[in-house]
Amino acid sequence: MRVTLSVIKADIGGYVGHSECHPDVIACAKEKLEEAKKSKLLIDYCVTKCGDDLQLIMTHKRGEEDEKIHRLAWDTFVAGTKVAKKLKLHGAGQDLLTDAFSGNVKGMGPGVAEMEFEEREAESIIIFMADKTAAGSWNMPLYKIFADPFNTIGLVIAPNMHCGFAFEVHDVKEHKKITLNAPDEIYDMLIFLGAPGRFVIKSIYHRETKNIGAVSSTQKLSFLAGRYVGKDDPVCIVRCQGEFPAVGEALEPFASPILVMGWMRGSHMGPLMPVSVADSTPSRFDGPPRVIALGFQLARGKLVGPRDMFEDKAFDLARVKANEMADLMRRHGPFEPHRLPLDEMEYTTMPGVMKKLSERFVELE
Ligand code: F6R
Ligand code: MG
Ligand code: MG
Repeated sequence: MRVTLSVIKADIGGYVGHSECHPDVIACAKEKLEEAKKSKLLIDYCVTKCGDDLQLIMTHKRGEEDEKIHRLAWDTFVAGTKVAKKLKLHGAGQDLLTDAFSGNVKGMGPGVAEMEFEEREAESIIIFMADKTAAGSWNMPLYKIFADPFNTIGLVIAPNMHCGFAFEVHDVKEHKKITLNAPDEIYDMLIFLGAPGRFVIKSIYHRETKNIGAVSSTQKLSFLAGRYVGKDDPVCIVRCQGEFPAVGEALEPFASPILVMGWMRGSHMGPLMPVSVADSTPSRFDGPPRVIALGFQLARGKLVGPRDMFEDKAFDLARVKANEMADLMRRHGPFEPHRLPLDEMEYTTMPGVMKKLSERFVELE
């Protein structure tokens, strides 16, 4: 049976500040998606949150970029925004960049990751969702999961994974894409992936079966809106087991926290901390950035789950390490490498300050 898994998310208001999604907004979204399930538009759904982002996880039979599904997500965000406005939540409706829906939520603010596939005998899925960071933050974890034998032993010893995976990489500034094969082209690939502010992994395919293994959201809100509207707070779907990495291989990169762009005012580097859904409440300096992982088994499109994968005690040490990294970065205050380079900051006073002081700049002798 062919099934489509759509994860569409938006920040439509924060509680308190940008730290959390209000329970009434989540309840409103559940109501909307329940109606859509009753009317048979959806097979199943799960509504959750990561920090201040409302996450709509939906299964259906309509394929990717379907107008009805995108409209459902849009209408749900609009309804949630009404609740957010009533409660005067912070930044109510902030990710809804236009007033009218025009067929597809792409380019309108919400983040989207979708994949259509033939449901396997057992279909294990992990959905990663992050807050206070950008889409490029998946680059290193996805590389490790699908191309690094020090993370994924299956690449070495599992006959059905030994051929490697193909990576579709997007240049979000030039609006171009390229597909590169691992392991043959990893040195070429890493020159791009190591610059996550510009190059982002969009999807990953099994090289022999051509089956899709992973897809991420690559919206860059700051480019979309031409002004600051928040880091994209990305999502990513990973299929696991069999010809794909095992669940444990998919979760393993997050046991060693890395520094990503985002955090306070989308203008800092900070550790990506793996947490349970309940702990996705970025409050210290509006962070540090969080990642949650929900696991599901699909049964004829039904979402059996979720299991909150980072609740596992085995990620406790990663959280301690991330907190230590947060301290180290915070020590730098407004200095790089904590503060992002000038052209990557989401907030800046640079043009104004430059203009004000331009007369006082004199040529060096
Ligand atoms: C970062 C983020 C927050 C806000 C900060 C200021 O992605 O959402 O750190 O940037 O709280 O928020 P505003 O400008 O809405 O007052
Ligand atoms: Mg927010
Ligand atoms: Mg957010």
